[in-house]
Amino acid sequence: MTTIVGGVGTSHVPAIANAIRNEWFDDPYWAPFFRGYEPVRGWLEKMRPDVAVVFYNDHGLNFFLDAMPTFAIGAADHYSSADEGWGIGTVEPFQGDSALSWHVVEQVMDAGFDLTTCQEMNVDHGFWIPISLLWPTRPEAMRVIPLHINTVQHPMATAARCEALGSAVGRAVRSWPGNERVVFIGSGGLSHQLEGKRAGFLNPEFDAECMDALASGDTQMITSHSIPELVELAGSQGVEVVNWLAMRGAIGGAVSEVHRSYHIPISNTAAGVQALAAV
Ligand code: DHB
Ligand code: FE
Repeated sequence: MTTIVGGVGTSHVPAIANAIRNEWFDDPYWAPFFRGYEPVRGWLEKMRPDVAVVFYNDHGLNFFLDAMPTFAIGAADHYSSADEGWGIGTVEPFQGDSALSWHVVEQVMDAGFDLTTCQEMNVDHGFWIPISLLWPTRPEAMRVIPLHINTVQHPMATAARCEALGSAVGRAVRSWPGNERVVFIGSGGLSHQLEGKRAGFLNPEFDAECMDALASGDTQMITSHSIPELVELAGSQGVEVVNWLAMRGAIGGAVSEVHRSYHIPISNTAAGVQALAAV
């Protein structure tokens, strides 16, 4: 039987990759941001997950605007990173777990979610920055399952639907006969908007309420909103919070909050990290 250790929500700003590469860990701009990850890494070291299922949004690397799946899952044994245009380079390939991926695909399809299944998939900063932040010494040692949720092109799945997808993924992982220890990652957010008249928009009050909701499990203050309402509240890219919601849905039940940090701004983003232990 698998063990669900819990989940982590984290931002995924491309500039973080540059800061990691240049080892700006003690730089005054970056130090408070990186310090926020230390307790989360400590918890993960104790929890020793074997597999990370990563809910994230592709930003135009593996999928583009001409063909954008609402939900897509990797079913490969290797995933290569590539840079979709930020100039942040690449990292070592990640090892997948195609057997567990196919089990999740079958169970989640039976539950009514029509996933796009990718036997080849390149992963962008939305996927690999969280892994690099959470497992800095050997990120490629984790087994990973990428699960893309479209937050790039409208129309998008509702927040409630993303949470329900996460729940179905959680049930699927629980029904896997292996002994893996599994952690769920939600990548993106928190509030940010990169373009238009509201470029630079942040909403710390809303972000704090979202993290409270994810910790308590009463997520209605997010799921009751339509995507246009979430754009209004969190910014056009702040909609990425649906990835955190999917992560929370996958854990299910009660959680205890291990740690949260929130730092404004990293680039144009309200950067958050929150670790939730399954109880
Ligand atoms: C930024 C944030 C993102 O989530 C992203 O995908 C790209 C850029 C930023 O704040 O620079
Ligand atoms: Fe993003």
